[in-house]
Amino acid sequence: MNPKIITLDGPSGVGKGTIAIMIAEYFDYKYLDSGSLYRSLALALFEKNNNFEEVLNNLDHWISDISIEFHYKKGEKARIFVNDKDYTEKIRTEKVAILASKIAVDKRARDMLEKYQRSYIEEPGLVVDGRDMGTKVFLEANIKFFLTATVEKRAERRLNQLKDQGISANLPNLKQELLLRDKADTERLISPLMPAKDAIIIDTSDISASEVFDKIINIIKRNKIYE
Ligand code: DC
Repeated sequence: MNPKIITLDGPSGVGKGTIAIMIAEYFDYKYLDSGSLYRSLALALFEKNNNFEEVLNNLDHWISDISIEFHYKKGEKARIFVNDKDYTEKIRTEKVAILASKIAVDKRARDMLEKYQRSYIEEPGLVVDGRDMGTKVFLEANIKFFLTATVEKRAERRLNQLKDQGISANLPNLKQELLLRDKADTERLISPLMPAKDAIIIDTSDISASEVFDKIINIIKRNKIYE
């Protein structure tokens, strides 16, 4: 048994989720969006107590009865559940993203979610996206990608994604929020956002999702990770 692991890390709005699903579908692998775990945990905690300082001071207590499940089936939209309640749509706001970034600095929260992420390894393989998939959680991955794009392009993409979900937002605000979140994610002490030493870096600013996908598939095939 030797499941393949493909990691895609990068900042928010870079397109990693879209590409990761395309790769998972192509190879018939499992897919896991680790950001959705942080978002769900953050929202579940916020619903219990909106004073995050208090929550972080006594996280073991607040976290103890929260159970998160991520479901992905080829051809279907991935869904996420907290204590069996569907959180898929409501975690997609920027407000929840900011809460997620706050909870993401806590080692206890990261350890809990890391355990869940590792339990997702399964034959024939897994595609995961996030911030520390290649640098921390799946060090042994067969191949690691790090996607980048200008903040302008990322904000535009985020705006379109939110529009598609019927969520209104404005571009300058989104850009500002992305920059703040990038700063929090890259400057935190535990598992900061950065490319793994062995990651292949792809700038997606001026190429479409299908071009990024083709590029990645070609690299995977060239690297012969299937032999
Ligand atoms: O990918 P996303 O925008 O859904 O992630 C939301 C936040 O969760 C992100 O700003 C930081 C945190 N996160 C993390 O710390 N580690 C991950 N592997 C994934 C997300």
